[in-house]
Amino acid sequence: MKGIKILSTGHYAPSKVVSNDDLAKVVDTSDEWIKSRTGIANRHISVDQNTSELAYLAAKDAIEKGKIDTAKIKYILVATFTPDDYTPSTACIVQKKLGLNDQEIMAFDINAACSGFVYSLNIIKGMLQKDEYAIIIGSEVISKLIDWQDRGTCILFGDGAGAAVVEGSDEHLFYSYNNSTGNEEALYCKGRTFNNISEGYLYMDGREVFKFAVDAINKSIQNLLSQSGLTLDEIDYVVCHQANYRIISHVYKKLKADPGKFFMNLQEYGNTSAASIPMALSEMNEQGLLKENQKIICVGFGSGLTWGATLFEW
Ligand code: UT7
Repeated sequence: MKGIKILSTGHYAPSKVVSNDDLAKVVDTSDEWIKSRTGIANRHISVDQNTSELAYLAAKDAIEKGKIDTAKIKYILVATFTPDDYTPSTACIVQKKLGLNDQEIMAFDINAACSGFVYSLNIIKGMLQKDEYAIIIGSEVISKLIDWQDRGTCILFGDGAGAAVVEGSDEHLFYSYNNSTGNEEALYCKGRTFNNISEGYLYMDGREVFKFAVDAINKSIQNLLSQSGLTLDEIDYVVCHQANYRIISHVYKKLKADPGKFFMNLQEYGNTSAASIPMALSEMNEQGLLKENQKIICVGFGSGLTWGATLFEW
């Protein structure tokens, strides 16, 4: 297949909303600091729902909104760095929750942190055959890995899930660009290994990751434009991983681009890692912003350090 077509989108965010003022009661911070440094006002936090449950609810939303014939689903991919368990994969649990466990399906998780959804789109493009559907989900419960006493990280992240039902297409443009640098220091959450049985909290060197993020988005956009021969004026929307409005505004200022092209919903959800791009696409779709044949660039970046980008037609 030359490209992919996104048939429908869905998302789910836990009902508990934690505002900046709520956090200021727990750590030494303020609504003013958080909004001016990040753009974030709220984040949704899971009380008792795991990553697979959020993923299932987002997938169900996409299936219902698109009136999808689930018999055609051949692949379920869940991008996450916060799976319910080491094994089975979150994707297998979602398959069962969707009642698709008697169907011939390949189900697996992708861990590329905040680049996971875009990596998944780029992977599935090479796998889909004619008349086959895939559900691609980004889902995270990051709140369980956060040190709620660390003001440097606890204000940034939130929980949520977004999903897209995708089919192969020979009529839709598709260009991809993927990368990683093998960096273990800038952003990590250590797990159980042979030498270390403690499971630690999420750590991020914010300044280092900020610089990397601006550069990764710039490189990604330039690369996709050069592959496709398109100009930024011909792109309808750029949907970046929703980490920080200052990262995104640095990019559109540098590229002298129309800020209206760069969709943002991080003010409501914070940084939801692999979930942020599909949640943004789903909200854009709900708001009626996405129209047939529009050209969209998505850019994910995060731990690894990884970055992945895709240019596709709606
Ligand atoms: O999803 C993966 C990708 N992640 C990202 O892209 C995140 C990239 N990084 C960032 O978005 C920003 O670096 C942060 C929002 C994390 C931090 O913003 P910053 O402008 O880089 O702040 P900083 O870390 O340089 O800290 C500046 C000051 C420090 O105080 P001193 O040393 O100047 O006295 C911090 O201790 O702000 C202090 N600070 C806070 N103050 C109030 C750090 N966190 C807070 C806080 N409230 N929550």
